[in-house]
Amino acid sequence: MPTQPLNPHLPFGENKQADWYGKDILSVKQFSRDDLQYVFGVAHEMRGMVERVGTFDLLKGKILANLFYEPSTRTSSSFTAAMERLGGSVIPINEVKYSSVSKGESLPDTIRTLECYADVIVLRHPETGSAAIAAKAAKKPVINAGDGVGEHPTQALLDTFTIMEELGRLDNLTVTMLGDLKYGRTVHSLARLLSQFSGIKLNYVSPDILRMPKEVMDEVAAKGVPQAEFASLEKALPETDVLYVTRVQKERFEDPADYEKVKGAYVIDPKVMKAAKQEMAVMHPLPRVGEISPDFDDDPRAAYFRQMEYGLYVRMALLAMVLGKA
Ligand code: CP
Repeated sequence: MPTQPLNPHLPFGENKQADWYGKDILSVKQFSRDDLQYVFGVAHEMRGMVERVGTFDLLKGKILANLFYEPSTRTSSSFTAAMERLGGSVIPINEVKYSSVSKGESLPDTIRTLECYADVIVLRHPETGSAAIAAKAAKKPVINAGDGVGEHPTQALLDTFTIMEELGRLDNLTVTMLGDLKYGRTVHSLARLLSQFSGIKLNYVSPDILRMPKEVMDEVAAKGVPQAEFASLEKALPETDVLYVTRVQKERFEDPADYEKVKGAYVIDPKVMKAAKQEMAVMHPLPRVGEISPDFDDDPRAAYFRQMEYGLYVRMALLAMVLGKA
């Protein structure tokens, strides 16, 4: 049966409301098209409120524990900003070495501790599956802010919101993912989330040792989405509507020599982008370390800085949803 295109501009009260109160957000697999419509509607309301009043009291009296075992700038600070813009407050644990984790405290015990003080926990951790372990230990909602090379669901939600804002649709798109597709958890989540839309084609451009994991490709294939792998961008770029660039994740390589072989494999700059459509978007979860030249930043197709701002509204929406205020 044909599905209705998403309309992010519907007020969220008119969208099908999912019951997210008290729920964990661990994987994009939890989100249907209707759920996305709902998240986007709430995010739009949040954007309007931030533009009109800046900060408001929707989550006044609520506390977020922001627990990061790995470095972060965007995810950590946007969750902090989201909570504070909603009138709540934050327990920031950005350096676990200064917490009792450095004394050997387990993840479940750390989670049980923080939920004594907070209403919701955002967790980034280097091990795949850690968010699910934390959620099992917790009675309060846990939001996965990246679990090793597993998933980064809130990033994929803000990525799809960005695509809607930039191109106005999530159906009938060719999305090309470029760079480190093996270790890049953002592309694992995004490929899974996009696979429920119609007319989607996914291109994967990477060095051989950084190809998209078979497990992700099999899940996407099961949804009937065509996928193609390339070693160079040349063939895929002209048909691309969204070019999703990723950093080669040096910190995940066991052998530094392997990193040296593939770092700098692809660089997006104005010359390369001459072969791309005029109406398309270049995205990146950031940080970048040379894979997009700053010379391209002023091009209207460069959406990666706007993408960061959209993340604030989406994370405001998610916090309000799991705390029963949306
Ligand atoms: N996109 C992203 O997860 O960025 P940070 O690592 O800075 O949070």
